Amino acid sequence: MIKLVTTDPTRIKNNLLVIAACRDTNVYDHPRLVATIQQTRRLNEFSGDRGDEIILYSPAGYTVERLMIVGLGESVNLQPEVLRAAIGKAVARAIRQKLSTVAIAVPRPVEGSLGSEVLLDSMLEGACLANHRFDRYLSDKKHAVVKQISFVVPEKTATGQRRVMSRTETICSGTLLARDWVNTPANDKTPRRFANTVTRLSAKTGLKAKLLGKKELVRQKFGSILAVAAGSRSEPAMLLLEHAPAKVKKTIALVGKGVTFDSGGLNLKTTARINQMKADMAGAAAVAAAMLCLGRLKPSVRVVGVLPLVENMISGQATRPGDIIRTYSGKTVEIGNTDAEGRLILADAISFAIKKYRPDVLIDVATLTGACVVALGENLAGLFTPDDPLADAILASGQQTHERCWRMPLIEDYRDLLKSDVADINNMPRHRFGAAISAGLFLSEFASGTRWAHVDIAGPAFHKKPSAYCGPGATGFGVRLLCEAVRRLEKSI
Ligand code: BES
Ligand code: MN
Ligand code: ZN
Repeated sequence: MIKLVTTDPTRIKNNLLVIAACRDTNVYDHPRLVATIQQTRRLNEFSGDRGDEIILYSPAGYTVERLMIVGLGESVNLQPEVLRAAIGKAVARAIRQKLSTVAIAVPRPVEGSLGSEVLLDSMLEGACLANHRFDRYLSDKKHAVVKQISFVVPEKTATGQRRVMSRTETICSGTLLARDWVNTPANDKTPRRFANTVTRLSAKTGLKAKLLGKKELVRQKFGSILAVAAGSRSEPAMLLLEHAPAKVKKTIALVGKGVTFDSGGLNLKTTARINQMKADMAGAAAVAAAMLCLGRLKPSVRVVGVLPLVENMISGQATRPGDIIRTYSGKTVEIGNTDAEGRLILADAISFAIKKYRPDVLIDVATLTGACVVALGENLAGLFTPDDPLADAILASGQQTHERCWRMPLIEDYRDLLKSDVADINNMPRHRFGAAISAGLFLSEFASGTRWAHVDIAGPAFHKKPSAYCGPGATGFGVRLLCEAVRRLEKSI
């Protein structure tokens, strides 16, 4: 549970009180906090540098068991991410030490730096996102999350700060939900099971949900979804989520790649590459979780989520390299490689979304290419779009949430790489250079005429190593990005 309090921080009786210190400026009005920080600054171990941490036990003049001081660096360089990371690390430590109640003293705004709402917001994000463990499968849940986190703020800014809280809490819970889904092993998230889980939750938020099962996909000729799913005993599905407020004219469509396991198909992945492929539905998880958040936040724009869900497996029924399939759009595709399955299911989902909802803007999110990870590393998503204003909105959302995107070129030169002698297009480019771009160009063939952007999250979706406010495994990347992008686009489309 998270709450905002205006209590005197020295009178709080928690397991832990966290206070923050800048290198150069004092960030509290409370004389005792200022004095404590000044005292510890005299120690060599603590100067208020970014990443500095010190713990005092039974500190004099306080009622808490322990006091932790976290360094934020120079106040002029204070960015939201510094606060998220500092608080995230503090909460992660509290979990490790099995503490159940934590209070965090929010600094006052410093001249020329962040305002009181951003200060609270960033610390809240760091705390919420760090206060999470994926322990569903552990018999011994040795690291329980912190039960109660209180943010201590001054009386005079509390009202404004309370206003930002509920949105941030909603979006952070959505991110944690996405992490849990992506971390869930493929044997427990067949397309149908995953769809049912999302459907059950969407009922509580006022979202409309509709599931197209295999029969319906066959009837409506979703040729490429069916081709990818052909080798699996788990049937494919397409989940449609809709936030449709009355009297709004504009529509944003979000499409997420939902491959619940990507074995590569008959072009089977190697041992090293097949490892984390339960995470190949991270795009669908991000879109589903963002939709659940939007169902609560109720922006005044129609937002639809389109989730093609399949498992890419091998069997006697599996699609073969060299097969030619007819997509939902009518275009034929030569299957040059069964491991380039993401673009196939997205092609059907994108053409369907455009036909059914006529969106003003469509954004797809997908763990689409290893090449994007090679190009940008694990901390950046690739952004592909011919539309400059749309790119700017998504890039700005990435800056704000720290779910950073880097725009990649969609140059026409590489379209030829996808030429096929026997079908309209090949799903496998002729060579591996620029493969994140040729994947984007493949998708663009199915989005023509609609404002469209593609976000390749193969790098940032899943991190084996934990970071400041994310445990090992799924990151939930995309949920905060999409919620922010919708907020910006709502005003500009
Ligand atoms: N799901 C993979 C991409 C991926 C790689 C995601 C690493 C996360 C981490 C995708 O379906 C895939 O296999 N892409 C191929 C495309 C190629 C065959 C054109 C790739 O990137 O190698
Ligand atoms: Mn693949
Ligand atoms: Zn894949």
